[in-house]
Amino acid sequence: MIRPARLIGAASVVLVTTALAVCGLTAADSPQSTTTTVQRASVVRVDDGKTIFRFETFGDEQLWTDVLRMHEVIATSVDPITALTVGLKVDVDALPASIIDALRSGTGVDLTSPETTIQLLKLNAVVGVKGTVSDTGQLTSVGITCALCHSTVDNSLMAGIGHRLDGWANADLDVGKIVALSTSPLLDDATKADFRTWGPGKYDPRHHYFDGTNIIGLPLNTPSLPVVIPPAYGLKGVGFETYNGDGPISYWNSYVGVGQMGGQGSFSDPRIGVSISQTPDLVTPRLPALLAYQLSLRTPKAPKGSFNQAAADRGEGIFHGQAGCATCHKGSTFTDVLSGADPSVPLLHEATEVGMDPTYAEKSATGMSTGIAAYRTTPLRGLQQRRFYFHDGSASSLLAVVNHYDALFQLHLTEAQKSDLVEYLKSL
Ligand code: HEC
Ligand code: HEC
Repeated sequence: MIRPARLIGAASVVLVTTALAVCGLTAADSPQSTTTTVQRASVVRVDDGKTIFRFETFGDEQLWTDVLRMHEVIATSVDPITALTVGLKVDVDALPASIIDALRSGTGVDLTSPETTIQLLKLNAVVGVKGTVSDTGQLTSVGITCALCHSTVDNSLMAGIGHRLDGWANADLDVGKIVALSTSPLLDDATKADFRTWGPGKYDPRHHYFDGTNIIGLPLNTPSLPVVIPPAYGLKGVGFETYNGDGPISYWNSYVGVGQMGGQGSFSDPRIGVSISQTPDLVTPRLPALLAYQLSLRTPKAPKGSFNQAAADRGEGIFHGQAGCATCHKGSTFTDVLSGADPSVPLLHEATEVGMDPTYAEKSATGMSTGIAAYRTTPLRGLQQRRFYFHDGSASSLLAVVNHYDALFQLHLTEAQKSDLVEYLKSL
């Protein structure tokens, strides 16, 4: 269990928050003006957002360096092999030709030395990790960015080293194992043992939060409940983009940027009893550009030949017909979260309706404020790249997804129909 150095009481909850107010105002998906100036401004904003997404730590070194002491852990025990094993990725475009050649030939780069990791950090080549290296080669600080969890690479040079793929979930990243390397006294052995059970591609963003000084356990969520890191692409027009529809993208970016990454900023949501205030706020002013960049990330097309087109066409008919999938996975976004009577309220499905474990939903803001554990219909996208499905990863293949629904809704699909449906899902 995490030792709460300071427990947060209801009295410290602020009513309306800057973060939420900003979320309401950021309308990057509103109709675009056609004037050149505005277009140029929005291009600049997307570019800014890309830099923020990839490289901005929001000052979260206050967690990863000051509290978790990860710079010391890296310097003593994280060689590149270890780093790649826990799912960290290396951006080949940040490497000089000499290192690329050495990696290709397998000589001249020591992948078993933490010093090489420090060299890679100095080159700003480790995706989602930013290190500061002194003139004498000491790693003096380290922080993380959004890209840590929501980017991967195309393995063009070798496994784990390639060109960045922004918005793709890093299905190899073992956040629990990484954090468990920390030597911080704020994390006891039981907590670290719990984190080590998460496995790759998962993280529990509701287990605790960081307020700038202390790691505060969210008592409802002990032990932890890791969920699948989702992709951050294909979100244009979706709405309420979290598993439980807690709020729009910027709400969640603020929650994670401040409370989870440990950035310096302010976030408050009375629904979950979290109120963090730090000045200057390095997160809130960056949310609009970050939003613009996320909305610009398109779902990658399923590679040609990776699914059977004729079967997928038949599967599409089943999806809309006999299987009834499209009653919830509606329209081009494949979700009905905005289909409620009031568009300012997310349309959710109770856990029992879709046969899901209610526990994670109970900890969400919508769950805590309504007392109803419910999930948002997931916008289906990039399904081939996923290792597991549903918020908790309870289905490890698309056939397992189809079988789940076949049993739950008593669809009586034949094996051939199931396989057609799977081919269709692979095409999305
Ligand atoms: C430590 C890993 C981690 C980091 C770092 C992280 N996220 Fe996430 N992100 C998650 C997990 C896990 C979820 C799913 C949580 C949920 O929906 O309840 C998520 C959800 C999301 C979603 C919702 C996607 C969807 O379809 O449901 C978006 C968008 C997103 N993150 C963007 C960001 C941005 C932008 C940042 C940087 C400010 C960031 N994330 C940092 C792990 C991470
Ligand atoms: C009653 C509404 C409803 C129906 C009908 C429905 N779904 Fe879903 N679907 C959901 C919800 C809600 C989730 C999120 C569940 C979770 O993550 O806990 C989901 C999640 C999924 C996912 C996981 C996506 C991911 O990225 O993890 C897939 C795939 C999926 N559904 C496919 C289908 C198929 C195929 C059908 C038809 C056989 C179908 N769904 C029918 C509501 C529905």
